[in-house]
Amino acid sequence: MEDINEIIKTHSAPKRQQYYPEEANSAAEPMFDNREAKFKLHTDVILSDETQLQLDECLAKLKYHKQIYVDWGFGSVDPLGVSTILNFYGPPGTGKTLAAEALAGTLGMPIIHLGIAELESKFMGDTAKNIQAAFQSARLSGSVIFFDEADTLLGKRLSSVTQGVDNEVNAMRSTLLIELERFDGIAIFATNFGKNYDEAFRSRISHHVRFSLPDLAARRRLWARMFVSGIPLKEARDQLIEDCSELSDGLSGREIRTCMRLALPKAFLAAEKTDMPAILSLENLKSAIDQIRTAHTEIATTESIGRSQLRDAVTAKKLLGINNITEV
Ligand SMILES: Nc1ncnc2c1ncn2[C@@H]1O[C@H](COP(=O)(O)OP(=O)(O)OP(=O)(O)O)[C@@H](O)[C@H]1O
Ligand SMILES: [Mg+2]
Repeated sequence: MEDINEIIKTHSAPKRQQYYPEEANSAAEPMFDNREAKFKLHTDVILSDETQLQLDECLAKLKYHKQIYVDWGFGSVDPLGVSTILNFYGPPGTGKTLAAEALAGTLGMPIIHLGIAELESKFMGDTAKNIQAAFQSARLSGSVIFFDEADTLLGKRLSSVTQGVDNEVNAMRSTLLIELERFDGIAIFATNFGKNYDEAFRSRISHHVRFSLPDLAARRRLWARMFVSGIPLKEARDQLIEDCSELSDGLSGREIRTCMRLALPKAFLAAEKTDMPAILSLENLKSAIDQIRTAHTEIATTESIGRSQLRDAVTAKKLLGINNITEV
């Protein structure tokens, strides 16, 4: 693949010169740290065919950018350039954070991960200025900019402001919209919300990518990854994968990993009792899956959304211009 950083550098130069002329000659240091993305989409993330296709199309847009925009001349009617704004949405634990990192990894680009920790250390005082700083860091370092858990992340900061929340929301929202409009790189949002964004956001987001709970075929692949070669197995590996995949309907990729985390120590405890070498059995795995299922139903019935969480969500929706929320 042609070096995406080169493509971005070449094609975004005019836009940068237009909007940020002072940056071209300044020795500004990025305020936000970027890091190398460790994962790759095709090897590390297990996705449904639909999600995979959406991401492949997004990669193709970047890969064939020069052919489409320069050789075929499409740039004359679509001067938007390389700007690619993605929104990853779907239930918790379905691989959105992992996929954002893997997308950057596949493109060979570093990533600026804006999560709660970064928010708390950097987003002090003027939030809108800090949004600008994050985009500036992405431009200077040629990084993918990633707003992880954008719903809680963006809402949280604002809900701690006791006065003038609406003003703060509006300032931050317009900064975000302006920065997105001018940005000529790759920005990713991850949220648990559906895609009912208002026009201002919808027109800027180039790809809405839906992440869903794994179906049987995806669960087979997720479980197969869990049974790494060093783990001694009591039953045949293929049969274990099949049984666990059947039993874990409705669980996310993260929960499948948690099942394995719970099952492995069970094998050791069982071995202590029998004085035999530890070996992972279907019984250990079934018991772990049951535990997760019980936690699922208990949390679903007893947990009500706290006031502050609700306020965070409402604020984030305003900010992102989401009209009617469909939780996904
Ligand atoms: N589709 C997947 N492919 C491979 N591993 C997965 C997948 N989904 C989840 N996992 C495993 O679960 C972990 C947690 O997933 P991740 O943090 O990416 O979920 P998320 O969608 O960002 O969740 P949240 O909405 O809670 O932020 C991953 O690091 C990975 O180990
Ligand atoms: Mg996440």
